[in-house]
Amino acid sequence: MAADIPTTPLPSGEQVPVLGQGTWFMGEDRRRRDQEADALRLGIDLGMTLIDTAEMYADGGAEAVVGDAINGRRDKIFLVSKVLPSNASRQGTIRACDNSLKRLKCETIDLYLLHWRGGYPLEETIAGFEDLRQAGKIRHWGVSNFDTDDMEELVLAPGGHHVATNQILYNLTRRRPEFDLMPWCRERKIPLMAYSPIEQGRLLGNKVLGNIAKECDTTPAAVALAWVLSREGIIAIPKSSNPVHLRENRKAVDLKLSAEQIATLDHAFAAPTRKVQLEML
Ligand SMILES: NC(=O)c1ccc[n+]([C@@H]2O[C@H](COP(=O)([O-])OP(=O)(O)OC[C@H]3O[C@@H](n4cnc5c(N)ncnc54)[C@H](OP(=O)(O)O)[C@@H]3O)[C@@H](O)[C@H]2O)c1
Repeated sequence: MAADIPTTPLPSGEQVPVLGQGTWFMGEDRRRRDQEADALRLGIDLGMTLIDTAEMYADGGAEAVVGDAINGRRDKIFLVSKVLPSNASRQGTIRACDNSLKRLKCETIDLYLLHWRGGYPLEETIAGFEDLRQAGKIRHWGVSNFDTDDMEELVLAPGGHHVATNQILYNLTRRRPEFDLMPWCRERKIPLMAYSPIEQGRLLGNKVLGNIAKECDTTPAAVALAWVLSREGIIAIPKSSNPVHLRENRKAVDLKLSAEQIATLDHAFAAPTRKVQLEML
């Protein structure tokens, strides 16, 4: 396997790998938990040391799987988890984080995100995040599923300029953020984290993607991921519990698509020409 995974900076200057691992739907079935933890460990061995989870996934079950997988190697991991909007009052955020830390069996979450915007005022959630930061329970905080207008409001709220990332739906079939959210974040050096980067597998049967995969002697998943990774300041977090898929996904980092291949993909999966609201899964 080729060298380490390239990194991109958070606003603090800290570097994080551009390819990590997602965990949605892990921890749903107790009988699969060991296999899922093994898969995450393989991903870590392959260099995908950024792991994304959430209190929502399997009602904490995914965090428990992550806790098992990172046991004994916490120092190698950049750990991301999320608070549900329904818990995101100031005190609720702190309580939710404490519960996540118990399931993750560790003392600190590296990056703690508001899963999507809910009913609590942003300044309340930010105050909870800042309390957690001061207590050393989280190192950075950010948001998820925030469109440009939400980001504008966020950075103007007290403490809001500390936002470290926005995790959004982004892949070849979901290019809406390119119109204004991506340039807005790039200008402020806030990296975006692309979730569902292979559209949960739905885009893998696409013919154009299949042809380029053949040209590159690789798989459609690797091409789809390589395309996401070709964008500056983007971190992709595909989920896989399958060792073959994990190795394919890792290869995407070393796959450099030609200008012609990128143009072919741009033609098949058009970029937006006007503002359309951010989608979420
Ligand atoms: N913030 C949010 O609101 C939000 C929303 C959605 C997701 N997320 C995060 O982003 C992560 C990734 O998104 P996602 O899980 O929705 O979708 P995804 O990563 O685009 O796709 C995952 C699906 O694709 C399959 N897969 C993975 N690699 C493959 C490969 N090389 N070839 C063929 N199939 C492959 C996986 O199955 P196998 O396991 O069998 O490989 C799984 O069914 C999540 O797990 C979660 O951590 C965040």
